[in-house]
Amino acid sequence: MKKVMVLGSTNVDTILGIQRFPQPGETLAMNSRSVAGGGKGANQAIAAVRSGAQTAFISKIGHEGAADFMLETFKKDGMNIDHVTMSETAGTGQAYIMVDEAGQNSILIYGGANQDITIADIHQAEADIKNADRIVAQFEVPVPAVIEAFKIARANGVQTILNPAPAIKNIPAELLAVTDMIVPNETEAEIITGIKVTDQASMQKNAEAMFKMGIKVVIITVGDKGSFYATPSQTGFVPAFKVTAVDTTAAGDTFIGALSTQLEMDYSNIEVAMTYANKASSIAVQTKGAQNSIPYAKDIQL
Ligand code: RIB
Ligand code: NA
Repeated sequence: MKKVMVLGSTNVDTILGIQRFPQPGETLAMNSRSVAGGGKGANQAIAAVRSGAQTAFISKIGHEGAADFMLETFKKDGMNIDHVTMSETAGTGQAYIMVDEAGQNSILIYGGANQDITIADIHQAEADIKNADRIVAQFEVPVPAVIEAFKIARANGVQTILNPAPAIKNIPAELLAVTDMIVPNETEAEIITGIKVTDQASMQKNAEAMFKMGIKVVIITVGDKGSFYATPSQTGFVPAFKVTAVDTTAAGDTFIGALSTQLEMDYSNIEVAMTYANKASSIAVQTKGAQNSIPYAKDIQL
């Protein structure tokens, strides 16, 4: 069983079902409105724990109790939440997600407590970071915290996986230098390398540019098509499962969380691990909402 540490956001997602996206200045009635657990960090941690990994989560929630229902989910799934702390000043992170009838989404984020994660919080979790096989992080929490966590991981032989989402320009070289594996989507990849993702050759060029930045393994996800990978010894493309998506909100998070539980430390089974992760995300997109749609190992089995 792999030991996975996730550092990342916890958000309350308000999901607005809409017919189509409104134009500036336009008022539209929505089809539905619901509230569910989300946040890239929390989604990835849930995907990892549900795939059977021993999972610990570093995150920060508000003091107003808005994330209490998520703490219950974390506990029920058996996640270690010793390092999910409470902000003294900010409310729980929020995401406002519009999902149209074609299943496309568009998201607005209020960072809230997620933005209060400090280097001191990372030091509090140091023993558990050292004890993990790998650590996964994204960009809905402060970058200095991610750098500190990855430095501790690197110094202790713990693999580091960066999901550079949401995309930021100019990722510090200091962070890329301590990143073992990066998992961007095509837009995020282009922002990092300046090379547009069009076909497999361009993905290969992206990977080579990222290798030069110090990264060992690259996976570029391309939505419902599947994902490309490049390790120092292999490259390939793993197609996605064909399903009818109703909400793609946590698809990428489910892929990354599930992947982190399956990969061998030498990446030798990368295609099998990616196929498993594709299967997990293909299940997640068939149900509305982020966390409630993330599947368990027994439903993912290949
Ligand atoms: O990746 C999906 C997540 O992004 C949502 O759950 C939302 O909270 C946003 O953070
Ligand atoms: Na979903």
